[in-house]
Amino acid sequence: MKILVTGGLGFIGSHTVVELQNQGFDVLIIDDLSNTSLEVLDGITNITGKVPAFEKLDLREKNKVQDFFRRHVDIVGVIHFAASKAVGESVENPLLYYENNISTLVYLLQELQKKEEASFIFSSSCTVYGQAEKMPITENAPIQTAMSPYGNTKQIGEEIITDTAKVTNINAILLRYFNPVGSHPSAEIGELPIGVPQNLVPFITQTGMGLRKELSVYGDDYPTADGTAVRDYIHVVDLAKAHVIALQRLLNKKNLEKVETFNLGTGTGSSVLEVIHAFEKVSGQKLPYKIVGRREGDITSAYANTDKANNVLGWKAQSTLEEAMASAWKWEQKVRKAK
Ligand SMILES: NC(=O)c1ccc[n+]([C@@H]2O[C@H](COP(=O)([O-])OP(=O)(O)OC[C@H]3O[C@@H](n4cnc5c(N)ncnc54)[C@H](O)[C@@H]3O)[C@@H](O)[C@H]2O)c1
Repeated sequence: MKILVTGGLGFIGSHTVVELQNQGFDVLIIDDLSNTSLEVLDGITNITGKVPAFEKLDLREKNKVQDFFRRHVDIVGVIHFAASKAVGESVENPLLYYENNISTLVYLLQELQKKEEASFIFSSSCTVYGQAEKMPITENAPIQTAMSPYGNTKQIGEEIITDTAKVTNINAILLRYFNPVGSHPSAEIGELPIGVPQNLVPFITQTGMGLRKELSVYGDDYPTADGTAVRDYIHVVDLAKAHVIALQRLLNKKNLEKVETFNLGTGTGSSVLEVIHAFEKVSGQKLPYKIVGRREGDITSAYANTDKANNVLGWKAQSTLEEAMASAWKWEQKVRKAK
C-alpha cells in the first residue's frame, strides 16, 4: 500500500518512514528540504535496507501538488508532517506560517477528496490546550486561544480537516504530540535543528558537546515541585510507531468516527531540571546551566492523559526519559564527529 509522507525527511517524519518501511508499507516522501537535508535518506536506508521513494517538492506550489497526485493515483494514505514549526518565527512572520501550514493542508485535502476513500494523519500539538486547567490533559480539555500563529495553524488545521471529513470520503486522525525528543537508537537519524535550537533537548546535547556555552533555564519560580516548567517528553520512536498504528486503524476501517483525536505522550511530566539530570546521568558529565527569568508565552505544566491512546488506539509509549536522552546524546556525538 502506497503511503505519502509529507515532511518525511524531517525529525518525526524520518522516524515514521522507518517504522512504515519496517511494517512493509511502500513509502513515498515529499519534502522541500527547507528544514532538513538529503543525507536523511541515507540514514533511513541504512536502518531499513530500503531506499524510500523521494520527491523534492514544495507543497505551497499547488500545480505541482496536483501534478504529483495525477502521477501517483495509487496513494491510499497520507501522513502530513510538512509544516514550519518555530513559534517565535511565527510571531515575526505570521503569513509565512499561515501559507506553509494552512495552504499546503488545503491543497493536499483537495487532491484527497477526489479519491473514493483516503486516510489522513495530521501532526497536531498539545499547544492547542494552552495552559490546561487539569493535569493530566485529556483530549476533551478545552481548546484555548492560541498563543502564537504557529499554535493557531494547528487549531485551524484540525478544524479544516474536521469540516472536510464531514462531506468527503476522507477519514482522519489528529495526533496531538506532547514533546518529541530523542533519536533512532542506531543514531542513523535524529533531530538536527538548523541554527540555535528552539527546543530543550537539542540545546542540552549541543551544550554537552561544547557548541553552546551554557543552557538558560527559563524560570525556577513556577508552581511545580522544583520550580521549573514541566512537560511530557515522548521518545520519537514511540511517537513514530503511533503513526503506523493510527494509519492501520484507518486503512482497516477500525475508526469509530470520521475524525478521531489522540494525545501522544508518556503520561508523565518531567521538569527542566529533571531533564538536565537525566542527561547528566546518561552522559556522565555535568551540564553548565543558569537560571534566568521566565520566557514570555511559556506555560507552567503540560502532560498527557494517555488513556484514549492506550485503550482505543492500542498504543503506549515504551521508552523512559533516560533512554530518550541517551539516544539524543548518541546522535549528537555522531553528528559532530562526522562534521
Ligand atoms: N517537534 C515538535 O516538537 C513538534 C511538536 C508538535 C507538533 N509537531 C509537528 O510535527 C510535524 C513535524 O515536526 P518535526 O519536528 O519533524 O519538524 P521538521 O521541521 O523536522 O520536519 C518538517 C519537514 O517538512 C519539510 N517542509 C516544510 N515545509 C514544507 C513544504 N512547504 N513542502 C514540503 N516540505 C516541507 C521540512 O523540510 C522538514 O523536513 C510538524 O507539523 C510540526 O508542527 C512537532
